[in-house]
Amino acid sequence: MMVLKTSEELAVMNRANAVVHETLRLVAEAAKPGVSTKELDDLAEDHIRAAGGKPAFKGYRGYPATLCTSVNDVIVHGIPLPTHHLRDGDILGVDCGVVLDGFVGDAAVTVPIGAVSEQAARLLEVTKECLDLAVDVVRPGRRLTDIGAVIQSHAEAAGYSVVRELVGHGIGRAMHEDPQVYNFGPGGRGPELRPGLVLAIEPMINAGIAGVSFDDDGWTARTEDGKLSAHFEYSVAVTENGPWVLGVDGR
Ligand code: CO
Repeated sequence: MMVLKTSEELAVMNRANAVVHETLRLVAEAAKPGVSTKELDDLAEDHIRAAGGKPAFKGYRGYPATLCTSVNDVIVHGIPLPTHHLRDGDILGVDCGVVLDGFVGDAAVTVPIGAVSEQAARLLEVTKECLDLAVDVVRPGRRLTDIGAVIQSHAEAAGYSVVRELVGHGIGRAMHEDPQVYNFGPGGRGPELRPGLVLAIEPMINAGIAGVSFDDDGWTARTEDGKLSAHFEYSVAVTENGPWVLGVDGR
């Protein structure tokens, strides 16, 4: 069941996502060669609690941390560890969820650590472009699968592949609401987007093949071929005036 939010509820979700984006900025600034992913997680949790929120991921199906920190061939859901120190040339996906006043905010970025290869920089750029193109689809009257269609066509035109096993989602009082938001497939299908619907759109784009393998920790998702992967995510509301990127767009 898709839950439409009132404008008052969207204002709360905007605040939850503002805390998410503040946290992502702090973490991105602190993410340097030598820093451990656990140090970044502690920084994130402290900031979220100081802002009056709660980490949304911690305890979700037993997930142990505030952030997902996904390095290089890790697509998503990398677990922060005190023994995992970032290195010059890594790419780091940071995914963060915050519960504030009963609503969940969810967003992610992938950032370069030190000096990265041209190929890595291009993958980050194209994946962010996939997200931005998808955001522009979030308008009344467009159809749900138009989102995945623009993501897939942009990623594949650049020679990359789209992860199939993991998808975006509706979001609100629960982190995962209907509908699932595919990052691939034909457009023009599924429900029409309506004002008040909020979607967490999260393209996961691989430099090589699309295949995924999961680590024994039950969380870490990596590329099957060991090549790089990038992930960006926004929580986006459908409004009469078009997309509202919660926590980012001023309103
Ligand atoms: Co999400």
